[in-house]
Amino acid sequence: MDPAAAPIGLFDSGVGGLSVLREVRALLPGEDLLYYADSAHCPYGGQPVAAIQARAVAITETLLAAHCKLIVVACNTATIAAVEALRASYPLPFVGMEPAVKPACAQTRSGVVGVLATGAALAGDKFHRLVAAHADGVRVITQPCPGLVECVESGELDGPRTEALVRRYIEPLRAAGADTLVLGCTHYPFLRPLIQRIAGKEVMLVDTGAAVARQVQRVLDREALLRRDTDAGGQMRWLGSGDVQALTPVVERLLGCA
Ligand code: DGL
Repeated sequence: MDPAAAPIGLFDSGVGGLSVLREVRALLPGEDLLYYADSAHCPYGGQPVAAIQARAVAITETLLAAHCKLIVVACNTATIAAVEALRASYPLPFVGMEPAVKPACAQTRSGVVGVLATGAALAGDKFHRLVAAHADGVRVITQPCPGLVECVESGELDGPRTEALVRRYIEPLRAAGADTLVLGCTHYPFLRPLIQRIAGKEVMLVDTGAAVARQVQRVLDREALLRRDTDAGGQMRWLGSGDVQALTPVVERLLGCA
């Protein structure tokens, strides 16, 4: 088999990484994509690092068995917990995520940036190093958002429960002067319209999905793994650890095909 014709694998604790998948699909429409939703172990945000690493290894084994040529860790929390260990253990390339602290600090005008992410992502040394490297005088305020991942998993992208949580997390950041908010969890881009409405239209929302898609393209190009016979590709398949049947309508809605 032509190694370039193999699929790109992507995974997340659940459906959040589909916000990255849709960017990869838009940039590389001829590539086959295989997505793994780890719904039986969602959310990762409150779990110990070792548990997240164990899931990342198990999912990598599944995606390798399906002959993936590159794996996107489409989850900030799993990237922070596990990407270095995955790179050290497996021969294929991994592309990870990191909260968009760098572009947010470059574009804030008020000098205050809010970062919305999971508790586990915000607690890691990797995140503290990211802030130390890019804050450059900008005040970076972090806000863990328990509950938001579950709202997206159940397809509740608006409605009273989701709106109350978004208000609770965003209003203190706005009151502190944040004019730029980092969507530091791959589930949150699906809440972008609601977050924008509550934060105000003048607030800039930043996520890294499109940048990660460009990185996938660069890495595949560097490794001579970009698919050439693009007429034959472009399939999307997905699997997961939870009730795949029950998740199907949510996946279809998030990808805009329902
Ligand atoms: N979507 C994930 C992230 O980017 C994980 C959320 C979770 O499972 O807590 O961090």
